[in-house]
Formats: sequence, C-alpha cells, structure tokens
Amino acid sequence: MDDTLFFIGTIETPYRRIEDCPRNIDPAGPECRLRLDAQFAPGLLGLEAGQQILILYWLGAGDRRTLRMNSRKSGEYAGVFALRTPNRPNPIGAAVLPIESVDESAVTVRGLDCVSGTALLDIKPAIQAERSAPQER
Ligand SMILES: C[S@@+](CC[C@H](N)C(=O)[O-])C[C@H]1O[C@@H](n2cnc3c(N)ncnc32)[C@H](O)[C@@H]1O
Repeated sequence: MDDTLFFIGTIETPYRRIEDCPRNIDPAGPECRLRLDAQFAPGLLGLEAGQQILILYWLGAGDRRTLRMNSRKSGEYAGVFALRTPNRPNPIGAAVLPIESVDESAVTVRGLDCVSGTALLDIKPAIQAERSAPQER
C-alpha cells in the first residue's frame, strides 16, 4: 500500500494572512487560481468552465493536535470532526465551486477561503450530493 500524499500544485488567492481569509467559501468572492505543477497539469483534461468541482487543499497552519474546540461560528464546544475548522489531525480543506475558466495548467474559481500559497491536494468533479451548502457549525 502506498500512503504517500503529493501536493499537486498551489492555490493563489488575494489573502496574504490567515486572519484576512473569509470564514468559508463564497462563490461570489474574488478570483482564485489553482495552479498545477507541470507533472500533474495533464490531469486537467476534460474539465470545463461552469462545471462544479470539489477542491481539496492542505490547511498546513492548522493545529493538528486539537480534537475539541469552540466553533468560530456558533461558539458551541464540539469535536473537530463536527466542525469545518482547519485545526484537525489532517488539516484538509474542502470546497465545491464552479470553474470560471481552465487552461493547460490552471483552473480559476471564485471565493476560496485559504491564504495564497496553500498547497493543492486534489480536484474532482463534484457529484450532485456535494453541491448543496453544508450545514456548518
Ligand atoms: C474554516 S476553514 C474552511 C476550509 C474549507 N472550506 C472547509 O470547509 O473544509 C477556512 C479558514 O481556514 C483558515 N486558513 C486559511 N488558509 C489556511 C492555511 N493555509 N492553513 C491553516 N488555516 C488556514 C482561515 O482562518 C479560514 O477562514
């Protein structure tokens, strides 16, 4: 079994500091680019403008030891698996957003919530069940 994780590229957003990021995604937000490293760029074949994609990214500045905390949104004390917090054992961020445009090595979307330079883990076409807004605490 190969359990190695590759970063496939980098996300460019307008946010230089974590505290400048929106609390979560906003499809009406500013343009952001998913820039693929050259060896992974061929994997973009078949993606099209308008298509909804699931984007997975590495929120590396999160605290990986946290298991319970107060929700930033509701204040409720809860386990990290009940929250969208970047503080979790594997700090993976997830977003479903429509593609604005795509070229040979980059995908443009609107409204990501991470600092510029955040590592990109994966892109997948979103399935219908992922397209409705999550019930976020
Ligand atoms: C609540 S998380 C949600 C991430 C993703 N949309 C999700 O739901 O899985 C978004 C927050 O993560 C923080 N953040 C952004 N970039 C980060 C990074 N590279 N490392 C750690 N935290 C980050 C910011 O505080 C931002 O408001």
